[in-house]
Amino acid sequence: MSDIDVVLRRLDETSDACLERLFAFLRIPSISAQPAHAMDCQAAAEWLSADLTSMGFATEICPTGGHPVVLARRDGPAGAPHVLFYGHYDVQPVDPLALWDSPPFEPILKKRPDGSEEIVARGAADDKGQVMTFVEACRALIDVTGGLPVGVTFVIEGEEESGGEHLPGFLASRKDDLKADIALICDTGMPGPGRPAITAMLRGLCGEEVTIHASSCDLHSGMFGNAARNPIEVLCHALASLRDRDTGRITLPGFYDGVPDLPDTLRAQWKEIGLDDAAILGPFGLSEPGGEKGYTALEQIWARPTCEINGITGGYAGDGFKTVLPAKASAKVSFRLVGTQDPEKIRAEFRARIQAFLPSDCRAEFVAHGGSCASVVPDTLPALQLALGALKDEWGVEAVVTGCGGSIPVVGDMQTILGLQSLLIGFGLDDDRIHSPNEKYDLSSFKKGARSWVRVLQVLGHVTSEGLTETGKKA
Ligand code: BES
Ligand code: ZN
Repeated sequence: MSDIDVVLRRLDETSDACLERLFAFLRIPSISAQPAHAMDCQAAAEWLSADLTSMGFATEICPTGGHPVVLARRDGPAGAPHVLFYGHYDVQPVDPLALWDSPPFEPILKKRPDGSEEIVARGAADDKGQVMTFVEACRALIDVTGGLPVGVTFVIEGEEESGGEHLPGFLASRKDDLKADIALICDTGMPGPGRPAITAMLRGLCGEEVTIHASSCDLHSGMFGNAARNPIEVLCHALASLRDRDTGRITLPGFYDGVPDLPDTLRAQWKEIGLDDAAILGPFGLSEPGGEKGYTALEQIWARPTCEINGITGGYAGDGFKTVLPAKASAKVSFRLVGTQDPEKIRAEFRARIQAFLPSDCRAEFVAHGGSCASVVPDTLPALQLALGALKDEWGVEAVVTGCGGSIPVVGDMQTILGLQSLLIGFGLDDDRIHSPNEKYDLSSFKKGARSWVRVLQVLGHVTSEGLTETGKKA
């Protein structure tokens, strides 16, 4: 039996212990957006750091202006490449709590009608379960072979779900400690069960929160309605102007600057993946893509930019009815970006649009919530080709190169601050309900994910540093 088979068998034989460790991690309610959970974020960092220390990593919990970063390092054999593994231990808020079938921080294994099982908890897929696929792969490699085939540095942050404000500064300040040949990220998904993928295109993000103020206090809507400005109405009117009803296009001036046409070759490749509109929208009770006309749902999600209203608040939305004319109304709006679209230019255009819709007696206030550019990993990258092969060995089918509608701003930071390309390999599925009630991670994603990482690390260990990243050179 080859070394790798022994390592894989070790993972299979210890799968209960692997799951128990993941459950312990999932029990920590590390919600980064909510100040009340700051100590839980610290606890999650400590839990992970203790686990990595027990595996022989030199580990540090690095304070930032916000939640800490777990930094851990273990060298590989002399001359072998070094990889930087990025993930996040923070999770999204759980609301609406009433829609969870089991408590979000009491992980359970749930059997489905077909006999397969899923891990249900907040963070199961995004991103604790995915982080632990990599940790367990490292543990099995170290236990069986006494070491890792490549050097590994972990950077596991605690602010990814709430803006990631402090990570770029951390990367810049620890640049020397973060030297590596390539970054590996496990925070993405697969196009379907049993269909491994590497994500090569991620959308950028520009987040904005706008509040429109009118009267100095809430007013009786009978006594003042008609005469007093209604900020909800002003807000809705301005927001509704952002998308053209006929073409589905976003109407901000210059919005499509830097948006590349979708090459026919890519369009054809994506068609092969077989995710048609019905497959993407059907499971959620939808049928027709709502974005730009002329693009499939997959193309709209992976390759086209958008503007989405994520939440609106204002006035009385509680039980019963209250006749009130609110003093203010606000909305949280996100723009997903592709190509070279500039988040700051789009932010400025958005603000100008809102201002243009303000009548007398109204004023707008804005809060920026992050801005990151889209990123593309060249599919000629030798490490990507090697990893595709390793994934095929594990899953028995060809791995595909996909896009992704979500955003992982650190990919851009890895490139600009550390000069690193990223390989995005993840095992999530579209029905994982990330950011939603009843988030889950398939048990098979967890188990085969860990096995996949063993194979990926093994193949990366067979080449030199240059062989991983020098495009045009045979690995
Ligand atoms: N893991 C997700 C990104 C993702 C989503 C990958 C869907 C694959 C499929 C990540 O944790 C995330 O949710 N990112 C945020 C951005 C962040 C700046 C708030 C996102 O995409 O909304
Ligand atoms: Zn994530």
